[in-house]
Amino acid sequence: MLYEGKAKKIFATADADTVLVEYKDEATAFDGTKRGVIQSKGIVNNRMSAALFALLESEGVPTHFIKTIDGRSMLVKRLQIIPVEVVVRNRVAGSLATRLGLPEGTALRSPILETYYKSDELHDPMVCDSHILVMGWATPAQLQRIKELALRVNEVLRPFFLDRSLELVDFKLEFGLYKGEVVLGDEISPDTCRLWDIRTGEKMDKDRFRRDLGGEREAYVEVLQRIEGGVHDV
Ligand code: TMP
Repeated sequence: MLYEGKAKKIFATADADTVLVEYKDEATAFDGTKRGVIQSKGIVNNRMSAALFALLESEGVPTHFIKTIDGRSMLVKRLQIIPVEVVVRNRVAGSLATRLGLPEGTALRSPILETYYKSDELHDPMVCDSHILVMGWATPAQLQRIKELALRVNEVLRPFFLDRSLELVDFKLEFGLYKGEVVLGDEISPDTCRLWDIRTGEKMDKDRFRRDLGGEREAYVEVLQRIEGGVHDV
């Protein structure tokens, strides 16, 4: 094992250019201060990320995904991580509602893209382009590419989820470098997206855990089933 994070473990493989990612059921919120377990979350997040990375690759977005290994793990390219979290928002929710004093659910005329410095100790502070460039976290060309890819991911995933009766309210992405190229990394799952059922408005994501709404396992499994297009064992 090379590294254990809050939601995943990373293992070395025989190939120095690839690593194995194992998704855990442990859930945290508020920089790890709230802890719990969502049964089967690791399976859902692995399978959902695999399906979405494959979709994005087919739409021209380079991702770290290589192949699924088993229910909880996937083989990925080993990236040099860029310590910036990119959030794309289609509707006001979460920290944006707090920051701007707007009700959750307020429509946005176009997507908002935000960047945060990935640091639990500092509580992932929001940063602007100058911080990213002057700190040397990315070059101007890399930052431009990150933004272009993040908005492209939104263009691909929004209609994909809408076809499954889910609104992609917002989501967080992480990027890294692989052989000099900017590549999408990390995961795309109900841990990292806000997904609202378009008929009921029900939250189908980690906000169920963050806000003690209950039913998080059922919501995660339902999202996976809508993505996989049927009832599959979880
Ligand atoms: P926020 O409204 O709390 O800033 O979250 C925006 C999006 O980013 C939301 O879809 C959840 C996701 N997110 C993460 O993936 N990791 C985090 O640590 C946080 C705070 C948010």
